[in-house]
Amino acid sequence: MPDTLTVIDNRTGKEYEIPIMYGTYPRYGAAIPTTDFRQIKVSEDDFGLLGYDPAFTNTASCRSSITHIDGEKGILRYRGYPIEDLAVKSSFLEVAFLIVHGMLPTRAELEEWSHDITHHAIVHENIKKFMDGFRYDAHPMGILISTVAALSTFYPEAKQIRDMAIRNEQIHRLIAKIPTIAAFAYRHSQGFPYTYPDNGLGYCGNFLSMMYKMTEQYSPDPVLEKALDVVFILHVDHEQNCSANAMRSVGSSLPDPYVSVAAAAAGLYGPLHGGANEQVLHMLQEIGHISRVPSHIKKVKQGDIRLMGFGHRVYKNYDPRARILKEMTHRVLGVTGKNTLLDVAVELERIALEDDYFVNRKLYPNVDFYSGLIYQAMGFPLEMFPVLFAIPRTVGWLAQWAEMLDDPDQKIARPRQIYTGDDVCEYVPIEDRLQAGGTNVIRG
Ligand code: ACO
Repeated sequence: MPDTLTVIDNRTGKEYEIPIMYGTYPRYGAAIPTTDFRQIKVSEDDFGLLGYDPAFTNTASCRSSITHIDGEKGILRYRGYPIEDLAVKSSFLEVAFLIVHGMLPTRAELEEWSHDITHHAIVHENIKKFMDGFRYDAHPMGILISTVAALSTFYPEAKQIRDMAIRNEQIHRLIAKIPTIAAFAYRHSQGFPYTYPDNGLGYCGNFLSMMYKMTEQYSPDPVLEKALDVVFILHVDHEQNCSANAMRSVGSSLPDPYVSVAAAAAGLYGPLHGGANEQVLHMLQEIGHISRVPSHIKKVKQGDIRLMGFGHRVYKNYDPRARILKEMTHRVLGVTGKNTLLDVAVELERIALEDDYFVNRKLYPNVDFYSGLIYQAMGFPLEMFPVLFAIPRTVGWLAQWAEMLDDPDQKIARPRQIYTGDDVCEYVPIEDRLQAGGTNVIRG
């Protein structure tokens, strides 16, 4: 059976043979190179057929070996390693190495990597002054995006993206400085003095310290530090979503990685991408008590509202990240104190998973269903939720960016369009324009 597709153009009766490409899993990676459709023409001056796929819902923009998702089976793997194993056995910095370098580090490599990241956490004093310029009530995500872009001006050598030593140094800097900038953005919004990084702490412990340290002594609670580490692992990468696509698309014109990460973070900022966990929290607060769960479910089934934190474009099974976070939520609340919203969440999930409406539509809790509860219990304000997403996702963006740069198939991203506007228009001087509309169009 040949790995090809036979296409007959009924306009001309001509037949074309298009090759079929495969990835690791034929069921998930079979594709056709749509540029081959350009040969399908009705005449010599015809441009050739394009693929039409707004939002890339059925178009592979790259070949990638970073993350594998099988939404039907509820599988998420980074570089082949199941997310469940990494969440239990690994650490955020080790996973960051795995995602960026494609393999688990040796002990010596992990020590060097951790050292490099730790020692790049401090930011230039002018960055502090730059951040001081934001209004007291500036959204921390706006501060983060702008400040990451501003880092570009501090490291002009970063433009040399083909120099591997320089590229790697920027990767260290970005992974290291993102938590510092995130914590400074929060402190600025609270009017608190900035807390400098503490090289004696781990990645997440240091972030918690920069967020919350007020006195000389601050030791992050080990359970909360571990919980944040796991949440960060679960958010490192999720293949070609809106922000990863922004990273690759902007990066394809070959600017330095700071402005590309700023663009990716801007993609994450929108409520359809990085903001859903905030909506879950609003919903749980609105329900308020488990006694009101049935009436809420009724409204969802009537189609009046959606159950936030349920359903996923890709996962048509339990989101594997949600399962890990559910367990983690109980552990975190064991330290921070009971939260009635958890009872509401558990009851919502219990009823939904037994209900035909949700079962038939394959609606299961997604990663956002529990992450908001964890963040709230740890004292993060709602505005920080997308920022908390951006910190670990920076690792994924950088891996996607580096993979794009090293892929010989990639060029500057430049989609095509199907033009639907007017044909040639004759310019009419303003004094002669008697009415609006297309009266001056010369139809071709
Ligand atoms: N609550 C109730 N019904 C739902 C929900 C939900 N959360 N999600 C989907 N449905 C229903 C739809 O009404 C539709 O029913 P119908 O066939 O009777 O019309 C059916 O399930 C399919 O829905 P679609 O919108 O086609 O599913 P899609 O895959 O496009 O949507 C999405 C995925 C956007 C995530 C959706 O499930 C949703 O809105 N969920 C709530 C918001 C949310 O939690 N977003 C976070 C996603 S995870 C992330 O981004 C990190």
